[in-house]
Amino acid sequence: MIKIVPFEEKYLDENAKLFAESYSDKDGQWGMEQSKKRVWENVNSFPECCLVALDENNNFIGGILCQKYVNYDGPSLYIDSVHVVKGLRQQGIGKTLIKEAFKKAQDLGVKSVFMYVDSTNEFPGNWYSRMNFAKTKWVAYAAKVEGLKF
Ligand SMILES: CC(C)(COP(=O)(O)OP(=O)(O)OC[C@H]1O[C@@H](n2cnc3c(N)ncnc32)[C@H](O)[C@@H]1OP(=O)(O)O)[C@@H](O)C(=O)NCCC(=O)NCCS
Repeated sequence: MIKIVPFEEKYLDENAKLFAESYSDKDGQWGMEQSKKRVWENVNSFPECCLVALDENNNFIGGILCQKYVNYDGPSLYIDSVHVVKGLRQQGIGKTLIKEAFKKAQDLGVKSVFMYVDSTNEFPGNWYSRMNFAKTKWVAYAAKVEGLKF
């Protein structure tokens, strides 16, 4: 039986490590220090919706990191990341983390939810679509500061 609990500092290292493993790819590698800063950035923005999944022995098995944004219709929940340890994926842990974060966000008056997905992979975009998320017209533009031309 898994438990979903609020993020606490004692989960920082494992959370940051899993974040780094989950989001490093050919475009960029996350180191532990940057990864920890990213965890704190989220926790400082929306602590109530940064949650951790634990197994029956209280071992860390996943987490969700969220931020709060101002939107035209009220506060909006931004899901920065959902990550589950590799050997325990596809057992409903990711879904439980998302459901719990939504529930807390709704209780706190949040009106909308958004996140980015890797559009070159079918999953997890297709999963979010099944939950009734819709692809928006907005796409991310990014650049290295030193590469900008004016
Ligand atoms: C995305 C992630 C958090 C999902 O966690 P999970 O615990 O495996 O997800 P669940 O078991 O709750 O499954 C959720 C749904 O996705 C489907 N699914 C899970 N993994 C899948 C995969 N690799 N391919 C296709 N479908 C998959 C499940 O069948 C389920 O579908 P349903 O809701 O229609 O029943 C996990 O794969 C992960 O940590 N990935 C690395 C980080 C990442 O990419 N995060 C998402 C970007 S923010």
